[in-house]
Amino acid sequence: MKKVLRIFLIGIGLVVVALLGFLSFVAIRGIPTYDPPVVQDITIEATPARLERGAKIAQMHCIACHSDKNNQLTGKHISDLPGVFGTIYSMNITQDKEVGIGNWTDGELLYFLRTGLRKDGSFAGIMPKFATMADEDLKSVVAWLRSDAFPVQASKKEAPKSDFSLFAKLLANTVIKPLPYPQQPIVIPDSTDEVAFGRYVADGLGTCFVCHSADFTKQDPLKPELTVGYYGGGNEMKTADNKPIFTANLTFDEETGIGKKYTKEQFIKAVKACVRPDGSLIRSPMFPHQMTDYEVGAIYEYLKTVPKIRNDVPGKEREALASK
Ligand code: HEC
Ligand code: HEC
Repeated sequence: MKKVLRIFLIGIGLVVVALLGFLSFVAIRGIPTYDPPVVQDITIEATPARLERGAKIAQMHCIACHSDKNNQLTGKHISDLPGVFGTIYSMNITQDKEVGIGNWTDGELLYFLRTGLRKDGSFAGIMPKFATMADEDLKSVVAWLRSDAFPVQASKKEAPKSDFSLFAKLLANTVIKPLPYPQQPIVIPDSTDEVAFGRYVADGLGTCFVCHSADFTKQDPLKPELTVGYYGGGNEMKTADNKPIFTANLTFDEETGIGKKYTKEQFIKAVKACVRPDGSLIRSPMFPHQMTDYEVGAIYEYLKTVPKIRNDVPGKEREALASK
């Protein structure tokens, strides 16, 4: 009996040593680097339609995370992410050739936005990837990054380097990996099929599920509907004044979701202007989305078809605030 116990304890000891060894390896290795990718040579034509579309999409995604106080995309502290990821700063993505992306090709930008990999194989694990955005929409973003719009004009200003936590490094060494570059064209669904179109606007274009699901670390960017707690909300973020906030349940569950709370018109107003039916303001990190009424209305039709999740997020939110 004693011998069995001793072998058992030695076994546990070995596991603990192996775990500590792996953690120190992760701490030293940091965010891993991959083989430099083979990037297609693509030239994106800057048509007026693309520039207009690209500006709108950048407003929804890139500007919130990359814009400094002067409205230039020189990088900033990402304050709405939970602290477990470390102290994260975005980077200068103006056209400056040294500190910005002035020397990146169109193909390298597309590749990075899809996969998270830079041309030297270094990996941006925290920056969201736009895995299911349509080719045309993503090309519009790149066309806009190359335009003479004020936010992307060359600037030498730089944000501090990110200090990734051991947890963030652990994630980047285990579950968060570069995504594959799509082998098939990704097209915008026909807008007359309101549900299919709405699914694209929600998942591919707006990436609403990234915030409105259970957890940033349990997502499936290639098949968003497999994300844990898809549109059930509850993901913890931070408000502008650094308080915990939980994302809303957007499924049509009558009691805890938006089933009874929003008509289509009210939903459109909420997403475009951040105002609830009772007149209260929807707080940051939710932000007013520059979308058309038809696009937001289509999201509403799509959400009706998403499996309902019972998740009383406002209750969780009150508890968290009360315990502070
Ligand atoms: C949630 C915040 C967030 C959003 C949204 C976001 N970024 Fe980023 N971005 C980051 C962070 C953080 C980094 C630094 C990545 C790292 O080192 O892991 C980064 C890095 C980059 C880089 C690499 C720059 C370099 O010099 O290596 C590019 C290019 C970039 N972002 C472009 C974009 C574009 C274009 C958009 C909009 C379509 C966008 N980002 C949206 C946070 C964000
Ligand atoms: C950066 C994270 C983030 C993204 C992206 C995001 N949201 Fe939100 N959203 C939130 C948070 C946080 C709240 C809760 C705000 C509050 O409690 O005041 C919220 C609240 C809402 C509400 C109000 C719900 C209620 O209970 O009254 C609606 C509607 C909504 N979001 C829709 C959307 C849609 C549609 C998209 C995509 C087009 C989207 N959100 C993208 C973070 C986000």
